[in-house]
Amino acid sequence: MSEVPGAGSTGVLVVEPMGNAGPFLAAAAERLGLRLYGATHREIHGRYAPWPTGELAGVCFTDLTDPDRALDDMESYCREHRIGAVAACWELFTPLVAALAARLGLPGNDPALAHAARNKIAMAGAFRAAGIPVPLDAVAEDAAQARRAASEVGLGWPLVVKPAEQGGSWGVSVVAGPEDLDEAVAAARRFTRAMPHGLALDPRVLLQAYVPGPEYSAETVVLDGVPYALPVVAKDTTAGRYRVETGHSCPAGLPPDLTRAVQHAAARAALAVGVRNGIAHTEVKIPPGSDTPVVIETGARLPGDNICEIVEAATGISEAVAYLQAVTGRLPETGAVREGAAAIRFLLPGRGGVLDHVRVPEVPGTHSEIGLRPGDTVPEPADSSGRIGHVVAVADSPARARALADRAIAGTSLRVK
Ligand SMILES: Nc1ncnc2c1ncn2[C@@H]1O[C@H](COP(=O)(O)OP(=O)(O)OP(=O)(O)O)[C@@H](O)[C@H]1O
Ligand SMILES: [Mg+2]
Repeated sequence: MSEVPGAGSTGVLVVEPMGNAGPFLAAAAERLGLRLYGATHREIHGRYAPWPTGELAGVCFTDLTDPDRALDDMESYCREHRIGAVAACWELFTPLVAALAARLGLPGNDPALAHAARNKIAMAGAFRAAGIPVPLDAVAEDAAQARRAASEVGLGWPLVVKPAEQGGSWGVSVVAGPEDLDEAVAAARRFTRAMPHGLALDPRVLLQAYVPGPEYSAETVVLDGVPYALPVVAKDTTAGRYRVETGHSCPAGLPPDLTRAVQHAAARAALAVGVRNGIAHTEVKIPPGSDTPVVIETGARLPGDNICEIVEAATGISEAVAYLQAVTGRLPETGAVREGAAAIRFLLPGRGGVLDHVRVPEVPGTHSEIGLRPGDTVPEPADSSGRIGHVVAVADSPARARALADRAIAGTSLRVK
């Protein structure tokens, strides 16, 4: 195990703890006896509610969109507070976290490769260099280039158009034919800055051949360059032009050889983008008739979508604990302690508008959370912001967990005006 430069320190600085995994990191820190500090913008901190204000031992206020200033501020803060580890909780800041760990001499990811964990164009290059199966792709700066690239590279139809840098399926479209390409490129280029931080984004778009088949995700925790596999999760998405995640379940129901193949692909993807002391969330698809997972993307962070909750409910493994162990130089706990199952289903209204009414029935074995209140705006169901809540079900088999969550979703009364 690594010599921890911050040995004796119990502090971990989390760069933007507001991410979906934030509450899981807070619970994990408590279990491990670590103090969690946050780094964010002062005005964003002012809007934190109710989480994570009460969970943090302190906050480093900085400007995360200005890497030089952020690194100076966070370095001083870590030295002042004797913080011995750094962690990411926001995908676009994972290169910043790698740079900070390197500056402080703390366990972290390879700063020279870290950009590939944020930028899907660089990621495709890193995957290809490592020999990882990926879809054929092309890069374009505008619709004319995209039209040319689509035909010259022979991506076929449908193809997928996505922003070089984004998350939450924002700006991602599955394009059926050439007539829809211009609109998809415009959608991928719509956001030039990532909110709420205002981080400037690479305006280029990535075109990828469409990979058919079911989709899965798996985390890989890495300690000193050695990957440890975490459970495979099955992912459900909408089927049309916009692929919004509608649910996840664990275990994924794959035979053991395919489970290992997904975990192997995920580990290779994590290492290819320089994850060295950290965690990665990798998404793959397995084409029909194939036993080779094709990697769609990876991120050097914990999963979103409450996957931490699903994995822990099903297996007893806390991915957030494993992540904090990796960044503090300890051997991560990755063994399942139970053989249960869990599923999450998202409430995704069929159209945008104003929420008039929503009520999720009480189904034993499930619990639900609604993020909007009547009168709130419901975004169009084109990306993950269109989801207004979720149902989690825990059971003894994945089929039963999915059925329970589906029953709660089917019984939900929902009106959007
Ligand atoms: N090449 C592809 N072939 C088939 N489907 C794809 C492809 N690329 C993306 N998708 C679908 O679109 C979804 C979103 O794409 P991607 O994961 O690249 O974007 P993202 O915004 O980072 O997603 P998220 O943050 O929601 O995971 C994928 O989960 C998958 O369902
Ligand atoms: Mg994705």
